[in-house]
Amino acid sequence: MPTVASQPPQATESQIRIEPAGWVCTAAPLQSILQATQQAGIELPSSCRNGTCRTCLSQLVSGEIGYLIEWPGVSAEERQQGLFLPCVACARSDIVVDQSMAHRSSEFNVT
Ligand code: FES
Repeated sequence: MPTVASQPPQATESQIRIEPAGWVCTAAPLQSILQATQQAGIELPSSCRNGTCRTCLSQLVSGEIGYLIEWPGVSAEERQQGLFLPCVACARSDIVVDQSMAHRSSEFNVT
């Protein structure tokens, strides 16, 4: 069962898999999931990049994430459903994310 925690991320690298495409990349400790995917050439929907606009709202399928800010723009109910904001969240384990609007950038560099 996916977990959306309020604690900061662990200090190890994590693997991120974006479904349904199946693209995989690595996130460094304290790196937001949005930054990690963009670095690998995976573009998730985004706008503000500070946890307020909700453009990046995605579904956590498995694994655990933590937030880099105290009050991300998701409700308690959304957290329970596994919804989270990749622009202000870091992986606390290997994670699988469902984001059907993800696409490849011109600098695609993932497995
Ligand atoms: S890009 Fe605005 S909340 Fe993530």
